[in-house]
Amino acid sequence: MISVKKISKQYIKKLFTFISGDKIHNQNFQNKVLVNAFFEPSTRTSLSFEVAMYKIGGKVISFNKDISSIKKGESFYDTIKTLCVYGDALVIRHPDIKKIEEAQQIATIPVINAGNGNSEHPTQALLDLYTIYNHLQNQSINHSLTFHDKDTNQNINILFIGDIVNSRTIHSLIGLLCKFENIIINVLPYKDCNPSSELLQTLLSHNSLSGEISKETLNIEKYDIIYSSRFQKERSSQENKPDIIIDKEFMTKVKKTAIIMHALPRNEEIDPKVDEDERCVYFKQMEHGVLVRMGILAELFATE
Ligand code: CP
Repeated sequence: MISVKKISKQYIKKLFTFISGDKIHNQNFQNKVLVNAFFEPSTRTSLSFEVAMYKIGGKVISFNKDISSIKKGESFYDTIKTLCVYGDALVIRHPDIKKIEEAQQIATIPVINAGNGNSEHPTQALLDLYTIYNHLQNQSINHSLTFHDKDTNQNINILFIGDIVNSRTIHSLIGLLCKFENIIINVLPYKDCNPSSELLQTLLSHNSLSGEISKETLNIEKYDIIYSSRFQKERSSQENKPDIIIDKEFMTKVKKTAIIMHALPRNEEIDPKVDEDERCVYFKQMEHGVLVRMGILAELFATE
């Protein structure tokens, strides 16, 4: 799983149905070993893959570049070759956009992209989409995203706020959302964080973009999903502060039925004082990471 481009609606439907049932909790892949290889910091993705693997009965080994033979000059090629000897699947995060695809070409086991530079983060996008799917189901909304043949043709309005150009999470989630009908997307970038021309093209070619907005013309009441993101400081030289902060005042304008999402970690863009508001689902979203990754791994090992 390298990019959301290759993830089909059928796969998503199967995954979400599987993890919404009981079977996911009765998996036993005791002979399988997952290799976690993070060349960039992570808390949620690395640990949730680890716990997901344990919960489906498997084992995990973790590669740490700082105490590895890379320090003795070993090449990326030889490192990946070696990791493939020890495991049955490789989860890899790397700051260089090209390295995951390179790893896939070298690898003899399945490779899962856990984030490559500012490009993609497909498993985060799947857990984000599952959070939206759950929300729509809880609201009994028949929609293409909940896989109803006869949807209500109700548009779901989604607003992405933040570092649009550098957020791989947003890039991948938009890629998934564009596979569904009746999704209307808008972006409100922080200063100097406008979407790339490629992302704009993706949105335009799916008729998903609902026009330009600014902080001044923002109509918060309109949105069903508000997805906030932090400045991706590790990928930007700018010392910026978010110009939109989700705080108690912001929340007074959010629809009663809307949800606030964030991939986490957060910085200043969401005030912790709003965490108790039931519309703020970012910690629930994080919990979904374990379940979704259990499903991804179980499906992968079952079809091997
Ligand atoms: N959401 C996410 O990717 O978090 P981590 O960087 O902590 O893995």
